Order: sequence, then C-alpha cells, then structure tokens
Amino acid sequence: MLRWQYSNWWRRTLKRAFAYNLFYKITMDKLIEVKNVTFMYDEENEPGIKALDNINLEIYKGEFLGIAGRNGSGKSTLAKLLNGLHLPNRGDVFVMGQNTKDENKLLDIRKTVGMVFQNPDNQMVATIVEEDVAFGPENLGLPREKLRQLVDESLKAVGMEKFKDKKPHKLSGGQKQRVAIAGVLAMHPDLIVLDEATAMLDPSGRKEVLATVKRLNQEGVSIVMITHYMEELTEANRIIVIDEGKCVLEGPPCEVFRKQELLEQMRLGVPEIVEISNALRREGVKLSNNILTMDELVDELCRLA
Ligand SMILES: Nc1ncnc2c1ncn2[C@@H]1O[C@H](COP(=O)(O)OP(=O)(O)OP(=O)(O)O)[C@@H](O)[C@H]1O
Ligand SMILES: [Mg+2]
Repeated sequence: MLRWQYSNWWRRTLKRAFAYNLFYKITMDKLIEVKNVTFMYDEENEPGIKALDNINLEIYKGEFLGIAGRNGSGKSTLAKLLNGLHLPNRGDVFVMGQNTKDENKLLDIRKTVGMVFQNPDNQMVATIVEEDVAFGPENLGLPREKLRQLVDESLKAVGMEKFKDKKPHKLSGGQKQRVAIAGVLAMHPDLIVLDEATAMLDPSGRKEVLATVKRLNQEGVSIVMITHYMEELTEANRIIVIDEGKCVLEGPPCEVFRKQELLEQMRLGVPEIVEISNALRREGVKLSNNILTMDELVDELCRLA
C-alpha cells in the first residue's frame, strides 16, 4: 500500500515536471508575438477607452495558454488582436512573423488563428451542420473532393460526424460549439482562440467542449482559452491574468493558483481543490505545490499520513 502511494506520488511529480519541461521546450517555437501593444476604443473622442495598455506576450507552438481576467479587463480585445480583427493603436502583433497590420497577409493570418466565440447561435451560418463547417474552406475555392475530406475530418475531430446532416438549431449548446470548432478546424489553423466559448453552456456542454479542446491540443493544435472559470485552466501549460488592460500574473497553473488572495481581489476564484489545498497549507499541512485534482490531493494526503 505504502509503495503504491509513493509510486503514485512520483508519477504525478514526474508528470508535472514533464509538463513544465514541455512548457520550456515549446518556448523554442514562437507562433505569435504581441509587442508593446496598446489598444483604444473610441479614440476619436478624447480621452478614448484604453482597453489594453502596453501588453507584451508570446504564444508558442503546441501550447495551451489560458487567459483569465474579470469583466472588462481586456480579454476579448486581446483575442481580436491575435488574428487581426483589431489592429493595435501602438505596438505590433506578429503571427508567424507576419505583422497583422500588413493587409496582404491578413488572409494567411486568419487561416493560422481561428476564433470561437461565446454565443454558439451567432456562429452558425448555414442550415445544415456540414454546410456550416464547409463555409470557411468553400470561400477559399477548394475543389469538391478536398472540401468533402476537410469537412469529414473536422467533424470527426470534434466527435460530431454523426450529426453532419442535422440542422444546427436542433443541437445542444455544447454540440453547436463543437460544430463551430469544426468550422475553424476545417481551415487547418495552427492556433484556436476560444473566447469564453463555454460561458453559455450547461455543465455537460462545457465538459464536451473542454474534452474536445484538450484532445485537439494533444494532437498538436495550439490553444488559447479565455475564461472566467479557473477550473477550465488546470490543463493549461501557462496562465496569464490580465486586469485593467495589463498582464498582472503569468505562470504555470499551480503557481498562479497559489496567488489566491490576489486572484480574489480581481474577482477570480481558484479551482475548488486548489482552494482546499491552499487552506490546508495555511493550517500548516505540508502539501506539495503542484496539486490540481482531487486524485492528487488524496494521494498527497495519503503520502503524508
Ligand atoms: N466596442 C467597444 N467600444 C467601446 N469600448 C469597448 C468596446 N468593446 C470593449 N470596450 C471596452 O474595452 C474594455 C475591455 O473590454 P473587453 O471586451 O476586451 O473585456 P473582457 O475582458 O473581454 O470583458 P468580458 O469578461 O465582459 O467579456 C472595457 O472597458 C470595455 O468596456
Ligand atoms: Mg470578453
């Protein structure tokens, strides 16, 4: 029994160490660079609204990056800067080395960085699921057979292949979001940005979308997950917290979640298990620093006992 507890503890520690190692490895291959970016709304009416204030950020190939922040902190503005939907007032955004201000590169940039938004209904453009998924690549003028292949592959990747003939409005929220992700996947993006894509879903829809996102990331698609729900970010390689248009925290989930008080000041919580672990640490229980799940907490308590 004791040996089992220790081997589990070692497995978890090694797994986390590997995740951090992966984090450092992926820093080799830069996908996006946000350099000294300031973004203003309503600039023509002095003083304007400064949504982002001198942001610097890099996103790496294969990475699962979480972005969190309270309402109005600038998350969606940042998301829209990543594929040229917004252009910086000051500074630059480079996607695979291309400046988003370069109009000639905008199509390539939009193919590289796909976006999934909050409201699944606003993202459906066709009356049949497969037509909806085909919409993006169809506009690129691809031949029929290639289009068929792309649509089938993308629907399969999100587990929605059986629904290809269905009407989108007959699907659940989670299923609609998976179709929206398939539509983005059909463009073969390197990065998918999900801007509160689970916010309007019930718990099972949220689970479906999270499982899909996790699988896609394991298959090599980079992910930027913007959310209020910190428990959605336990799988992230790295989390960035923004507040009032500035990056205020950055690090692997375990490290960011340890700053519970600061997160609470910004009206962000931490996952329940982390909250319990932090409380136990405050009581003097010597838990390790990398507990994110119930299994890990139980293993750790058994180890200490
Ligand atoms: N179209 C707009 N016109 C003017 N101001 C805007 C516009 N969109 C956003 N803002 C302002 O810019 C700031 C950042 O907004 P943004 O939508 O990026 O925040 P957010 O973190 O995504 O918020 P939420 O959690 O509510 O989605 C806020 O002060 C907001 O009021
Ligand atoms: Mg937003």
